[in-house]
Amino acid sequence: MSLTVRPIVGCRAKITALGAYVPPQVLTNQDLEKMVDTNNEWIVSRTGIRERHVLAKGLGVSDMCVEAVKKCLAARGIEASELEVIIIGTVTPDMMFPSTACLVQNKLGAKGAWGFDVSAGCSGFMFALQAGVKLVESGAHKMVLVCGADANTRMTDYTDRTTCVLFGDGCGAVLIEPAAEGEIGFIDFKNEIDGSGGPALNMPAGGSLHPATHETVDKKMHFIHQDGAAVYKFAVRKMAEISAEVLERNGITGADLGCFIPHQANQRIISSTVDRLGMDPARVIINIGKYGNTSAGSIPLAMETAVEEGKLKKGDLVLMAAVGAGFTVGVTLLRWEI
Ligand SMILES: CC(C)(COP(=O)(O)OP(=O)(O)OC[C@H]1O[C@@H](n2cnc3c(N)ncnc32)[C@H](O)[C@@H]1OP(=O)(O)O)[C@@H](O)C(=O)NCCC(=O)NCCS
Repeated sequence: MSLTVRPIVGCRAKITALGAYVPPQVLTNQDLEKMVDTNNEWIVSRTGIRERHVLAKGLGVSDMCVEAVKKCLAARGIEASELEVIIIGTVTPDMMFPSTACLVQNKLGAKGAWGFDVSAGCSGFMFALQAGVKLVESGAHKMVLVCGADANTRMTDYTDRTTCVLFGDGCGAVLIEPAAEGEIGFIDFKNEIDGSGGPALNMPAGGSLHPATHETVDKKMHFIHQDGAAVYKFAVRKMAEISAEVLERNGITGADLGCFIPHQANQRIISSTVDRLGMDPARVIINIGKYGNTSAGSIPLAMETAVEEGKLKKGDLVLMAAVGAGFTVGVTLLRWEI
């Protein structure tokens, strides 16, 4: 035997393409007024949400991912067969197994790729992103696809006014590749989990603890259960705290950012974070009015909004921050190189 040990190499990583997708069907606050005891004024003033998109019956999250990925591949001018890894952040997979990554790989014809799903609630894209970044930085791969996608309306109880007004469906995808000479790309990140927050936001049944039974259906255990106030408190504190930590340890302040892309859960959570970090509100991306909370789809959808609004430009320092079920927190700092 003659073992050849491959050298360990490393490089910087960057985002090279972006694609996002929402299904065409729209559910407005006025539609919800007819379904449950709520009103447009309450929803807008408490959350900033005006409408959200709903995935059509018969389709799964993998179908949304395929649409976003096609846009992403077209933007980069490459074929699915060139993908080496597919990582999907989602808590609403088509099914328990196989993974959404496998379903998407097959639908795209990304032969030879490997991949996996990441479950981190609304921080799903952020956690998946760092897994992808590290695979490129380590030198293991050169073409990694990271997707954040959720079909939240599939697990929403439309008789519960405290949750059904909040959530929508959507997704986005980015390509991660090695940065070129002189480019910076990904700079820093800080992710955290705090499982003590589990009871505040979960879908109790459908897993190994409470597999689906008539009883779990009757007790509405396959829907989102949320203690809104507890989630709100955690999100307001943590989003600002960890964002500030990442800025500080990189020697910058909110004023140095070209763009801040926060998870779109509640406009009041975003405003509070922006105030605490002393950022220019004009540089903050807010699209919650159009999409509601799309969980793992939220940050890449907001990245698309940022590009469309001309707020994400080559060379900009960008901070992205999410808080979600778990609890989970994810903050990433990068320089936009497209
Ligand atoms: C859910 C949330 C919007 C509720 O806002 P809030 O200002 O805390 O409102 P409260 O829960 O205190 O409810 C205030 C009143 O509005 C009522 N209410 C709740 N939902 C309502 C709705 N959709 N329409 C009308 N009234 C509603 C409540 O019943 C309550 O009435 P009461 O005072 O008579 O009891 C807020 O807690 C939140 O955004 N939490 C975080 C959720 C989140 O981000 N989740 C995802 C994390 S990634």
